Amino acid sequence: PQVIIPRNPSDPPVVFHWLPFVGSAIQYGNNPLQFFLECREKGNNFVLGGKSTVFSAEDAYKHVTTPVFGKDVVYDIPNEKFMEQKKFVKVGLSMDNLRAYVGMIEDEVDDFLANDPAFEAFQKNEAGKEWSTFDVVKVLQEITILTAAKTLQGKEVRGNMDKNFAVTYNDLDGGFTPLNFMFPHLPLESYRKRDRAQKKMSDFYVNIIKKRKSGGSDHEQDMIATLMAQRYRSGEPVKDHEVAHMMITLLMAGQHTSSATGAWGLLHIAANPKIGEALYQEQVKHFSTPDGKLRSMTYEELRALPMMDAVIRETLRMHPPIHSIMRYVRDDVAIPGSLAAPSKDRTYIVPKGNYVLASPIMSQMDPKVWKDADKFEPYRWADPEGVAAQAYKTYVDENGEKVDYGFGAVSKGTESPYQPFGAGKHRCIGEQFAYLQLGTILATIIRHLELQIDKVPEENYHTMITMPKTPRSIAYRRRV
Ligand code: HEM
Repeated sequence: PQVIIPRNPSDPPVVFHWLPFVGSAIQYGNNPLQFFLECREKGNNFVLGGKSTVFSAEDAYKHVTTPVFGKDVVYDIPNEKFMEQKKFVKVGLSMDNLRAYVGMIEDEVDDFLANDPAFEAFQKNEAGKEWSTFDVVKVLQEITILTAAKTLQGKEVRGNMDKNFAVTYNDLDGGFTPLNFMFPHLPLESYRKRDRAQKKMSDFYVNIIKKRKSGGSDHEQDMIATLMAQRYRSGEPVKDHEVAHMMITLLMAGQHTSSATGAWGLLHIAANPKIGEALYQEQVKHFSTPDGKLRSMTYEELRALPMMDAVIRETLRMHPPIHSIMRYVRDDVAIPGSLAAPSKDRTYIVPKGNYVLASPIMSQMDPKVWKDADKFEPYRWADPEGVAAQAYKTYVDENGEKVDYGFGAVSKGTESPYQPFGAGKHRCIGEQFAYLQLGTILATIIRHLELQIDKVPEENYHTMITMPKTPRSIAYRRRV
């Protein structure tokens, strides 16, 4: 049960505080969903819709993110400057760029199935014969980084993805653990490895940028080129190390989130063969050619596949990779009466210096909102009047861009019960890319493989991003 110790009559009930902190943290760490269902009255809207000067993301995250992403980007700088950087990245994620990525991702996945040792049986088997298995997490992690490298990261990065790169990446990634969150300064070897890896990765990107500047490499109009061409409102250009660190940020931001979502998606598809069949039939319906093959998808066609869209949405509903969104409270802030006060004539204050937390997983699994909340049910997204569709509306923003916000434009989605990409000022800008990447990866796998698993594994909440517990092998056999 939640421990509430009133310190000051206006203090709200707290979830974290010093003495019971360890107890709360363990309960939270073992099963955040259960923990949050007990704290549901605290409200995501309060946190995500609040002023960003009061609820600070940078103060909550920078001790973990700066050592990994590097200096002078994201949470290492004042929020106004990061918001400019976020706009620069948006330019690089233009529709024109996204359009070109579908074919590139499809080729990369085809290549992986045809050559990676994980799919040896696929390479040898005739269609419809024997079943074999693959580790869904391992495979998705590899496919995700390869496809992100080929598209967002550009030629030089993809060309240098050898063993060394993988080691550096892993050491850097070792900086994203719950331990780093709780204890930023431990004298551990993993922390030293992280710091060495950051330097190496930073130099790697800075060298690519320098080479481009001296005209020494041929490249496309990709994300690095886009970032290099931007200017801050002050007229200042973006410095080389800032471009480098933004590229590292994008690599890390998309990797675990997309690979975890892809892995969970395939697990649910494997556990529900009817859904796998429906996805396959959707591909056949839209992309069959007269000679019985399946042709490539365009970006527009991919975005208009209702079954694929529903499977990804439903996967993100049940398994939002970022299940907790944190903010540091910079100034005392009053909680609206309806949220926490036991009586109308009393106002609770969250005192400055505390952390507050919004929880997408809680509202997305809330049985008060969702029918059969704990059931994987993609078809819930098909009903235009249903709570799912209402929670995830599309709206056209001031630049004429289509944005999925949920529960109307006004609130920018902070009131929506569906927030896998967050809401408000810090909302994700990688959503379109993630859907494109996941949709293409899942479609390409489904085109080639039939999948089966007895049961979807339970969640392991002990990593920052929730992964399936082992064993997580999926059985497959070749379709075509
Ligand atoms: C922010 C989720 C993929 C870049 C966020 C936030 C969430 C999220 C929940 C809000 C964090 C907060 O408010 O504290 C996801 C999920 C993804 C995904 C579920 C995939 C399935 C990506 C990709 C990129 C990306 C592929 C880059 C290409 C970012 C950036 C922010 C962000 C730059 C802004 C952080 C801020 O403003 O503070 N994402 N993300 N994400 N994400 Fe993603």
